[in-house]
Amino acid sequence: MTDRPRLTTSAGAPVADNQNAKTVGPRGPVLLEDYQLIEKLAHQNRERIPERVVHAKGWGAYGTLRVTEDITKYSRAAVFKPGAETKMLARFSTVAGEQGAADAERDVRGFALKFYTEEGNWDLVGNNTPVFFVADPYKFPDFIHTQKRHPRTNLRSATAMWDFWSLCPESLHQVTILMSDRGLPQTPMHMNGYGSHTFSLWNDAGERFWVKFHFKTRQGHKHFTNDEAVQVIGKSRETYQEALFGTIANGHFPKWDMYIQVMPEMEAIEFEKKTGWSAFDLTKVWPHGDYPLIKVGEMELNRNAENYFAEIEQSAFNPSNVVPGIGFSPDKMLQGRLFSYPDAHRYRIGTHYDALEVNKPKCPVHHYHRDGEMPMGLRTNPDAYYEPNSFGGPVEDPSVKEPPHRYEGEVGRYDFRSEADHYSQPRALFQMFDEGQKSRLFSNIATAMTGVPQEIVDRQLEHFDKVDQAYGDGVREALRHAKTENAGVDTSHAAE
Ligand code: NDP
Ligand code: HEM
Repeated sequence: MTDRPRLTTSAGAPVADNQNAKTVGPRGPVLLEDYQLIEKLAHQNRERIPERVVHAKGWGAYGTLRVTEDITKYSRAAVFKPGAETKMLARFSTVAGEQGAADAERDVRGFALKFYTEEGNWDLVGNNTPVFFVADPYKFPDFIHTQKRHPRTNLRSATAMWDFWSLCPESLHQVTILMSDRGLPQTPMHMNGYGSHTFSLWNDAGERFWVKFHFKTRQGHKHFTNDEAVQVIGKSRETYQEALFGTIANGHFPKWDMYIQVMPEMEAIEFEKKTGWSAFDLTKVWPHGDYPLIKVGEMELNRNAENYFAEIEQSAFNPSNVVPGIGFSPDKMLQGRLFSYPDAHRYRIGTHYDALEVNKPKCPVHHYHRDGEMPMGLRTNPDAYYEPNSFGGPVEDPSVKEPPHRYEGEVGRYDFRSEADHYSQPRALFQMFDEGQKSRLFSNIATAMTGVPQEIVDRQLEHFDKVDQAYGDGVREALRHAKTENAGVDTSHAAE
């Protein structure tokens, strides 16, 4: 025996031989009684869990949020106490690619954060863009189908993407960001993060404020062009994992400055009257000129996971995880997500996903959920297994009661899109780009439109024209150029 720990079965029995299966004679066959062999093979068959239906490829690390400023007039959340340091987990991801996808692909990046606060986990499950393609959760599954593989060809379909986008002009803002330089960051450290939705904060006096969350990279923005990405992927498909893991392993800790934009509760009505945009429309930003960034603190990533599967793959982020002092908003997309994520985790990981070490709050947890598959950590008082009870079980705490949301209206399915202005904000973005950025935007779009039927291209060009004639014309010119160079055809929608 050495001083290394003794190998055991999962039931703890010592293993005498881990090299040779138990056989009848030296040439076999093997015996059914070789339980240790069966345990190894059976475990291997269960090593995979379903990958995330979106954002399957990801990279993560632990860190700390340090609050350097005082925003307690907006929120009573413990995580925002001046000077507070809260342990956290970040997981970055691409949206469309599967778990084995190359990292340096043009796509929106997920920017998911879990803060282990003293009053429970607060998850901010954002992206590296401040807006999204659609503003109604009803449209999300259809949108995602266009990003995934075509049922017949099993290939990604440019036709499906541009067909959907051109029929949903609210996507223009996000499409412009995706096709711009920021659509292909070099590493997760060289991009901003945004909560994207409007959330709310509430303070000790019960006042509510609408809020947007921003995380600005201190590493600077760095991007690959499409051509550079081809070279990068040719050398390694894992460049984000290498960069993030390597940087932290080498003791260089990436940082982001955290900011909020704040809108007093009743001002949302004025905002809509003035701009024509709802403050809860996920395809729009709040202009910084009207709602300046307010500094909160800094986020640093400083520790790699020990076990990628247990800590990053099985991490479960829920937009529904808020804590006293942070609340939701009427944003329809956010409301849809409040259902979708815990439902996904119960399917992908299991009923008690919240009890896994990476997802477990770092404060006491007392609830009355019972039983189910793998009820880890459900050590409740055996007599107090219902509520209310007379046996000392946990009780509610009215001091953390959230102020009421003020909603009224008639129930219906409302189409705000047909009247909304989908063009002004992409225009503000487009006009910020210098000539080089514009020219890369045009050629990225032209490349992405390879093989798409002309009527769909024309429909999308009309939208670009409405943003800025120079946008439409630039893409037209790039398409002419691409046609002479690129013989590729998108066959995904060819006739059966
Ligand atoms: P501002 O000029 O005050 O802000 C511009 C914002 O755009 C900054 O947050 C900046 O982020 C970001 N930005 C700069 N260059 C690029 C780029 N090439 N691609 C994407 N984003 C970039 O203007 P407004 O607040 O009035 O917004 C104008 C437009 O800027 C919006 O329509 C929107 O498209 C975009 N934007 C706005 C944000 C907001 O919350 N208001 C957030 C992000 C983008 P950074 O400082 O990190 O460079
Ligand atoms: C992951 C649904 C919109 C950011 C997921 C997952 C689902 C989902 C089911 C997989 C969860 C898992 O298995 O762990 C939806 C629905 C949406 C929506 C229904 C709209 C109604 C958005 C938006 C953002 C976003 C608007 C960003 C602002 C993310 C991120 C992840 C994710 C970052 C990966 C989280 C992680 O790293 O584990 N989404 N999503 N999603 N989504 Fe969404």
